Amino acid sequence: MTDRYAVIGYPLGHTISPAFQQAAFDALGINAQYESLETAPADLPERARELRAGKLAGINVTVPHKLAIVDELDHVSEIAHLTGAVNTVSVTPDGLLGDNTDVGAIETVLERAGVPAGIPALLLGAGGAARAALVALLNRGDRVTVANRTHENAATMTAHIAPEAGCPTLALDDPDLPIRAGNARLIVNTTSIGMQGGPAPGQSPLPDGCLHPEQTVFDIVYRPSATALLEQAAAAGATAIKGLDMLILQGAHSFRIWTGREPPVDIMLAAGRRAMEG
Ligand code: ATR
Repeated sequence: MTDRYAVIGYPLGHTISPAFQQAAFDALGINAQYESLETAPADLPERARELRAGKLAGINVTVPHKLAIVDELDHVSEIAHLTGAVNTVSVTPDGLLGDNTDVGAIETVLERAGVPAGIPALLLGAGGAARAALVALLNRGDRVTVANRTHENAATMTAHIAPEAGCPTLALDDPDLPIRAGNARLIVNTTSIGMQGGPAPGQSPLPDGCLHPEQTVFDIVYRPSATALLEQAAAAGATAIKGLDMLILQGAHSFRIWTGREPPVDIMLAAGRRAMEG
């Protein structure tokens, strides 16, 4: 029997998840089909029923269902609880389990790029992706400062996720931002700035002139693949990491949860990059 997996979202638009997940199943000879299933909010309970009935073996969950899906589940992992978001659902003997694989994906992306742990980091943003990034950076032992358009959201996020860490926070338009950026060894952008079709396409969250070669800049935005921020990083001689790798690695971690098999990461990365170009 062919196991069915899917990514659910609304509207789903074009997603490259089927391309790299199917490549992984095929590479390991697993009889499975991965599809994109546009799912309106009212249809979330139906997807849960399909999972319970064995019609779906597992799902990835994307915007806008990452919070609402929790109501349909029996358990969530500790990391999903901490980040407040579920992007992966699996079927277990104890019922439906929600996980958040963004955290592990960020850690893996940084590890694969050889970014040393325990360094000063500047996290830009305080939304859903920022929460996962904050957990990942603190897991690595980085000393994290958070900057966000709405300062209050940064303060609320750090107080909720890691009250004991005492992460400094500031507003994106704080005059100190360029200095804080210059002092960081790692900069992670999780804001929507620079995103194609987003609120500020073609723009960067940082002013020119604050990046340097000793830094790594990781932009979670993956459309376009080279954002204005990553172009600033490249021009400054810093190491630039593209968001596409993170998208594919969160899927690779989901694949491991569903199958118990080691995901063929390089095959998934190649398939995902090909799908992006296509
Ligand atoms: P995601 O799940 O992708 O993280 P989100 O939860 O909507 O999306 O978060 C969006 C992030 O981008 C937030 O940090 C948001 O800042 P605010 O907390 O001030 O809303 C940031 N953001 C969105 N549009 C922005 C803009 N035009 N300029 C600066 N920051 C912006």
